[in-house]
Amino acid sequence: MIQFILNQHTIQTGLPEGSTVLDFVRYHKRFSGTKIGCREGDCGACTVLVGDMENDRLVYRSMTSCLMPLRNARGKHIVTVEGINAEQLTPVQQAMVDTNGTQCGFCTIGFVMSLTGFALENGEHPYEKAIAAIDGNICRCTGYKSIERAARIISDQLQNMEKPNHLNLLIEQGFVPAYFSTIEERLLTLKKEMAALPEISSATQAYAIGGGTDLMVQKPETLKHAALHPLFDREALNTIAWEHGQLHIGASVTVTQFAENERVRVAFPQLDKVVKLLSSTPIRNMATMGGNLVNASPIGDMSIFFLALDSTLTLTDAQGNRRQVPLKTFFKAYKKTDLLPREIIERISFTPPPPGTFFNFEKVCKRTHLDIASVNTACQMRLAPDGTIAEIHLAAGGVWPFPKYLEQTAAFLKGKKPTHELWAAAESVLQSDIAPISDVRGSEAYKRLLLSKLFLAHLMKV
Ligand SMILES: Cc1cc2nc3c(=O)[nH]c(=O)nc-3n(C[C@H](O)[C@H](O)[C@H](O)COP(=O)(O)OP(=O)(O)OC[C@H]3O[C@@H](n4cnc5c(N)ncnc54)[C@H](O)[C@@H]3O)c2cc1C
Ligand code: FES
Ligand code: FES
Repeated sequence: MIQFILNQHTIQTGLPEGSTVLDFVRYHKRFSGTKIGCREGDCGACTVLVGDMENDRLVYRSMTSCLMPLRNARGKHIVTVEGINAEQLTPVQQAMVDTNGTQCGFCTIGFVMSLTGFALENGEHPYEKAIAAIDGNICRCTGYKSIERAARIISDQLQNMEKPNHLNLLIEQGFVPAYFSTIEERLLTLKKEMAALPEISSATQAYAIGGGTDLMVQKPETLKHAALHPLFDREALNTIAWEHGQLHIGASVTVTQFAENERVRVAFPQLDKVVKLLSSTPIRNMATMGGNLVNASPIGDMSIFFLALDSTLTLTDAQGNRRQVPLKTFFKAYKKTDLLPREIIERISFTPPPPGTFFNFEKVCKRTHLDIASVNTACQMRLAPDGTIAEIHLAAGGVWPFPKYLEQTAAFLKGKKPTHELWAAAESVLQSDIAPISDVRGSEAYKRLLLSKLFLAHLMKV
């Protein structure tokens, strides 16, 4: 049985864990406000809000319900548009009306849910954040300008609100109904009840699943009937720890949680620029680090990021046996990793670049949001006092059957001064380190040229 709160009501269901929250709300609960567009996380028509306790605080995040396995709703508050509707339009709905932000209306619910999620965020509500909150929503009618004007109205309204008791103020102003004030307590009670009735361990079963943003796209039909080994909200996999000079990132930490973490932000001051290029807000709210690595996509962004950090993985099996594997030896072939049957990634560990160490990530894709890379690359470089390269780690995606650690190029550069002449000399080594193929993301020649230019971008940023 999966228990959670759907809008106002606590419910339980015996439906398959691998069916989607989207199908559950539309076809079993008849909440047809949530729309079906692509079923692949691309359009945002199915966006719902998911409330859960994070660090003793109730946090709402937007997620695409078409990719959210029903199991991942366990113990959470799922909000569809029916859960925020009241007699009067909410300020978000009103702003969409006032600015002609809706035409055929198919995308509108998704935009409303994303902007409501933005309103529920703690902290400041600048216009740029409102726009970022709708980066996963596509509209084919309005041309976006009217929706942007709606986002401006909401941002202005929220910026003018006093911050203490943010949720109460949102309730007062009609952003969300009054029952939202009871949710935190209800979730805590629900979690206690669930703890008394632990899930039957499914460690020996087939499908380890994190956020589902890869698996639910690749095998939606299979998952509907499969037993899951759910990892998304396993507490032990959800932490970011700082121990013995290393950062340890739990495998189920999402891209959003990684990017929000204070220690991580100090280590990577440019992180927002990197993260912006990774899918969209609702996907980042679901996408885990472990999922990105095990998916072993040749252009996985976090795989490239962690390779250049020379990370180590801790793998654990169903009996709790652990082993450590350098990430650079983890990928074996196209979509093949070193993971043994029934083994999972527990955490990813690396030494954050110390002061004076340069770290840079570059990605080229056809559009800013919701696009995977043609080529991506990351570089970590430490210079010795004499200006020569004391340590260097380079990685690139889209140029090899799996995320590639550029060992030969790094070895060639080590001990030399990072100059344009050296970079030019390294070009032939770089090209022999890779073997891109022509596909929909570009021809072989284009990818070779891209990596060469991105490699230069690393140097220029040094
Ligand atoms: C619309 C869209 C846009 C995307 N854009 C990008 C992008 O820009 N860049 C990018 O890199 N990726 C992108 N992705 C891919 C995806 O979001 C990421 O790869 C994500 O990190 C996968 O994590 P997940 O938890 O959702 O994986 P899941 O789908 O849950 O799992 C993926 C695989 O990992 C396994 N797995 C998960 N966790 C573990 C673990 N701890 N141990 C062992 N096995 C595990 C699963 O069994 C499965 O084989 C996009 C996906 C979508 C749908
Ligand atoms: S239906 Fe398009 S993102 Fe879910
Ligand atoms: S209003 Fe028609 S798709 Fe957005």
